[in-house]
Amino acid sequence: MKVAFRIWRQDNPNEKGGFKEYQVDNLNADMSFLEALDHLNELLVLRNEKVVAFEYDCREGICGQCGVFINGRAHGPHDNVTTCQLHMRSFQDGETIVIEPWRAKSFPVIKDLIVDRSAFDRIIEQGGYISAKTGTAPEANAIPIGKEISDRAMDAAACIGCGACVATCKNSSAALFTSAKINHLNLLPQGQPEAYRRVIEMTAQMAKEGFGHCTFTGACEVECPEGISITNIAEMNARYFKAKIFS
Ligand code: FES
Repeated sequence: MKVAFRIWRQDNPNEKGGFKEYQVDNLNADMSFLEALDHLNELLVLRNEKVVAFEYDCREGICGQCGVFINGRAHGPHDNVTTCQLHMRSFQDGETIVIEPWRAKSFPVIKDLIVDRSAFDRIIEQGGYISAKTGTAPEANAIPIGKEISDRAMDAAACIGCGACVATCKNSSAALFTSAKINHLNLLPQGQPEAYRRVIEMTAQMAKEGFGHCTFTGACEVECPEGISITNIAEMNARYFKAKIFS
């Protein structure tokens, strides 16, 4: 199959950037989307042109590195799929595919399709950990946890921190990411020692990084490749008020 890739090109954070179109043929419909971009880059190398910078690590939907906007949707046309798990068979032969980096003030473009998501790391630094002592692993059944609580914690822990929630939100809010990271620890007994401090400091860092306020449009939940629920945001808000009163 052949397609036209219309890709955002930007050499550095200070350059204005713009779209450039590339015709690519000899693509296999079963190629992954990133393999198709690899194929384009091989063509660009042969033509002595600058390759397109894009990010990835696992290519298995785990690491959250690969997110881009594809035809106006975060991670492309399918629900609950990361960019690396998308295949060219999801597009029509001859289609023009528009690829853009995440658009958010707190995620400045580094180069082409790569954005700086270190704001997420700084939010995690404020409380995305527990203070349990390291050493011999404790007996797995020593702290019984009910199924409903463990399910909710593990559902929140599924967040891969890709940034699709921020990029798709009209307010560029990081509330879905931050709430998932808070709740997955605050729900569990192991997360209790820092529970109040975690919600206060992680939300404070979220605001400091310049992310917008959440107005519950629900766009983040729709575009999240891991299906993280916006009920996490409501729960984070409730935990925040409780922490402010009791801490
Ligand atoms: S490259 Fe790891 S989630 Fe896509």
